[in-house]
This record gives sequence, C-alpha cells and structure tokens, in this order.
Amino acid sequence: MTIHNIAVIAGDGIGPEVIAEGIRVLDAAAETDGGFRFRYSYFPWGCEHYLHTGRMMPDDGIKTLSGFEAIYLGAVGAPGVPDHISLWDLLLTIRHSFDQYVNLRPIKLLRGASCPLKGIGPGGIDMIVVRENSEGEYAGKGDWLFRGEEREVVLQTGVFSRLGCERIIRYAFELARSEKRTLTSVSKGNALNYSMVFWDSVFERIGAEYQDVVTDSLLVDAASMFFVKDPGRFGVIVTSNLFGDILTDLGAAITGGMGLAAGANLNPPKKYPSMFEPIHGSAPDIAGRQLANPLAAVWSASQMLEHLGHPEAAARILNVMECHMAAAKILTPDMGGIATTAEVGEAIVKRLWSL
Ligand code: NAD
Ligand code: IPM
Ligand code: MN
Repeated sequence: MTIHNIAVIAGDGIGPEVIAEGIRVLDAAAETDGGFRFRYSYFPWGCEHYLHTGRMMPDDGIKTLSGFEAIYLGAVGAPGVPDHISLWDLLLTIRHSFDQYVNLRPIKLLRGASCPLKGIGPGGIDMIVVRENSEGEYAGKGDWLFRGEEREVVLQTGVFSRLGCERIIRYAFELARSEKRTLTSVSKGNALNYSMVFWDSVFERIGAEYQDVVTDSLLVDAASMFFVKDPGRFGVIVTSNLFGDILTDLGAAITGGMGLAAGANLNPPKKYPSMFEPIHGSAPDIAGRQLANPLAAVWSASQMLEHLGHPEAAARILNVMECHMAAAKILTPDMGGIATTAEVGEAIVKRLWSL
C-alpha cells in the first residue's frame, strides 16, 4: 500500500472550510481505490500565525515542507495583515522556493456550471492555461526611492529569463502535442518592448521544433476579448505570470465562478514538492459561515492525485463532481443552492462510494 505524505496549509478565511472537504474527498478516493492512502501533516500557518508570531511561517518552514510529496493549500490573506506581506511570505515564497514554475489552471465548462455567455453549453469551453509561475512580473524585484517625497519613484521590475521562458513554453508545447490541442501564446509585445518581444521570439523559436502543433499568438487585450466572444477557440494557452493570473479569474467567471476554479503549482522535475490550491482567495466576505463552495478545492485535490500517479482516481473525482453539479440538488449559494460547504463535501464523498 502506497502512503502519500501531504503537507496541509489550510490558511485563512474560507481556506480551512474548503480544505476540510477536499481532504474528505481525497480519503474517500483513496479508500474506494484501495491502492493508496494519505498521511497528512497540518501546518497552522497564515495570518493568524503572523498576528501571534510576526511570521507567516517559521524560518525553517520551507525546509519542513521540502520533506513532503505535495502541499495542499487553502487560501492566504486576511484583513489586518497587508496582502503583500501575507502572500509574499507564504504562498509566493513556496512557489518560488520549490521552483513550481508551471501553474496549470483548467478552464472547463462542466455540466451544471452556469455560463454567463450566450449560446455556450457544457464542453463549449475547454482550455488549459499554462501560467508561468516563477518569475516575470512576479519576480519581486524593484525599488522604492525617495519614499514620501515629491520626487518619489517606484520600480517594479519584470524578469524574463531565457531559461524561464523556454521551459514554460516548452512545457506548453509538450502538453498541446500530447493532448492534440492547439496552443495560443498570450503576450503584449506591442507595448512591453523588452519582455514580451523576447517572449514572442522564444515562442517562435521553440515552436519550430513542434511543427505538428497548431499555434496562435495573441495580445492579452485581444485574448481577453476572445475569452468572452469566442472562448471555444482556445485549447492550451501559455502566458506570463501576471497575465495568467488575470486571465484565469476571467476564465473562472465564464465557467461557473471562483468556487469552481482549480490550480496546480508544479515543479515538473519533481525535485521539490508541488502545491495544489483553489485559485480563489480567502473570501473574507463569506468566511466562517459555511457558505464557501468547496468544489474548487476538490478539483485541485483531483489534480494532486493526477500528479501523484493516480490518474484514474483523479478522473473519478472530476466525473463525480460533474455528475453532482448536473444533479443540481446540493449546491452552495454561489451556484444557486442553499447547501453548506460540508454538505457539498459529504455529497461528493457519498457519490464516490456509490459509483
Ligand atoms: P477572493 O477570491 O477571496 O474573493 C473574490 C469573490 O469570490 C468574493 O466575493 C468571494 O466571496 C468569492 N469567492 C471566492 N471563493 C469562493 C468560494 N470558494 N465559494 C464561493 N464564493 C467564493 O478574492 P479577493 O476578495 O480579491 O481576495 C481576498 C483575500 O484573498 C486577499 O487577502 C487576497 O490577497 C487573497 N487571495 C489569496 C489567494 C490565494 O491564497 N491563493 C488568491 C487570491 C486572493
Ligand atoms: C492566485 C492569486 C495569487 C497570484 C496572489 C494571492 C498572490 O491571485 O493564485 O491567482 O496572484 O498568483
Ligand atoms: Mn489570482
């Protein structure tokens, strides 16, 4: 029997509520499969921890996490702690320290999810965003000069390395090839005359090695427009850190909302642990009231199973989730229902056992 050691950082706001359900689903998936189990280690890191200790995680937090196969994270951020501190000292540090350079975000319209766009039904949106996750606009480099003075200047430097661009673009080409999908690069070379001109040139150069993959290259403003007007045109998308962040919230909005959007932060060579998390935040506006939709966390759990080498169990979770949504009975308020977070989790577990 394989035992997977998972670090769990439930985090802030709705994080603990949705992660509790994700764990129940993971355990049910393991028990019904029979071939593996999970051992969880819980780390109470986040804003509460910060308010008590002055740290989002202990100094040796990264060393502690490095011993695990994967990290399952809820959300980070709470009123009272500046977002740039809470996110940089925990979530972004983990992504960077473990070189989780791929952020894989499926944008798929499942049965039972509502789409605000006219004339688009289940399957009408089925893309996967490969977001660069280690550098770019999120390099964290810059300066703040002459603070508070009239001559104040702030610099936020984008970092686009050859290695960083090549590896993410190559990953996307490999994915598009293996799934026989088209690949669209999203950039902004007309205005960002260094970083994105470079990105486009790398895309073209690597593309020459993948003549079998049909490609397109769009400016991010036009790509946003097509997300709304013609989302069916996209298969795999590869884009920079910030553009990927923004486009995937837009993607969530057209495929049922933040409560359904999942993401995987991958270190493809598996030298370090990868991290699985819903793409939504800590949602302080609904936290602590069992109003949060746990399905994004459940979908992320399915991505984790895939990464750990259990593709059948991963597919089963997604299938159960879709059947559950199509039945439209036990849903949280964001999906038009009146069920609690836990009731949705319980219902998914029940379906996993009855499938
Ligand atoms: P958010 O994603 O937390 O919330 C945006 C809106 O979506 C809110 O109205 C919220 O109620 C709703 N929503 C989000 N998840 C939901 C769910 N599972 N079910 C139902 N509704 C859901 O984004 P925000 O309000 O911009 O940020 C809140 C905090 O979270 C900030 O501190 C921000 O920095 C942080 N944040 C963290 C992460 C992360 O940890 N990965 C991601 C985004 C934002
Ligand atoms: C996300 C989040 C993070 C990001 C924030 C919280 C730093 O918005 O995972 O999409 O921008 O990557
Ligand atoms: Mn985001």
